[in-house]
Amino acid sequence: MKIVGISSSPRVKNSNTLKLLNAALEGAKKAGAEVESIDVAKLKIKYCIACDKCHKTGECSINDDFPALLAKLLEADGIIWSSPNYITNVTAQLKTVFDRCPLVIHEQLFDGKYGLSLTTAGGDEIDFILDIMNNFMIQCGGCSIGGVGCSMSRGPEAIEAAIEKSREMGRDLVEAIKEKRQYPEQESRHKAWREGFKYSILANKDHWTHNCDYWIEKGWIKE
Ligand SMILES: Cc1cc2nc3c(=O)[nH]c(=O)nc-3n(C[C@H](O)[C@H](O)[C@H](O)COP(=O)(O)O)c2cc1C
Repeated sequence: MKIVGISSSPRVKNSNTLKLLNAALEGAKKAGAEVESIDVAKLKIKYCIACDKCHKTGECSINDDFPALLAKLLEADGIIWSSPNYITNVTAQLKTVFDRCPLVIHEQLFDGKYGLSLTTAGGDEIDFILDIMNNFMIQCGGCSIGGVGCSMSRGPEAIEAAIEKSREMGRDLVEAIKEKRQYPEQESRHKAWREGFKYSILANKDHWTHNCDYWIEKGWIKE
């Protein structure tokens, strides 16, 4: 079982959020997973240019570090997303990764994968940031087991508690993967999304050829 942890703070090794990620990865490793930590702030990842090539061919037109990152995410059974709160959102580094994932969304390529989200913030706006990452995972066809966040203004005890909780959630991510845990509410969101997005696939079938072939192969639309 492989778990990839994504760090996205420009503060790189000094990141508070990285402390949560490291704890979650330690927990996952103790529970038996092979783990890898990837810092997207160190990678060269350009903005999506909306060229549509991925929908046509399954491949991105931009030559940078993203395709190799995506290959690692696609190999993983579990993904731990982490970002500090930057202006009530994830960092630009992580958002740029999300924006490069329309193929993942169109073809629901995280189907069967499980996610966990981690954040830190100066203030108390934690859940909103966790929801952004959890919703991304669900939008890509995966399931999220939840998240851990910490307001740095709540002091060292709160940070220690969040580190401990992250370690526990890392272990629980491994359990969720092992037992193929069901999340009926998230699964009904996948179903509802596919039902609605079918019309976009059909409307674009002449140029989203890769997407269209994939949907036919999956039995989500008929030839
Ligand atoms: C550009 C920038 C924007 C920020 N925006 C917010 C914010 O909107 N709300 C908040 O609570 N904290 C905000 N913070 C504080 C960070 O979320 C907080 O310091 C966090 O722990 C940093 O994590 P890191 O060490 O992993 O980078 C911001 C920090 C920076 C540098």
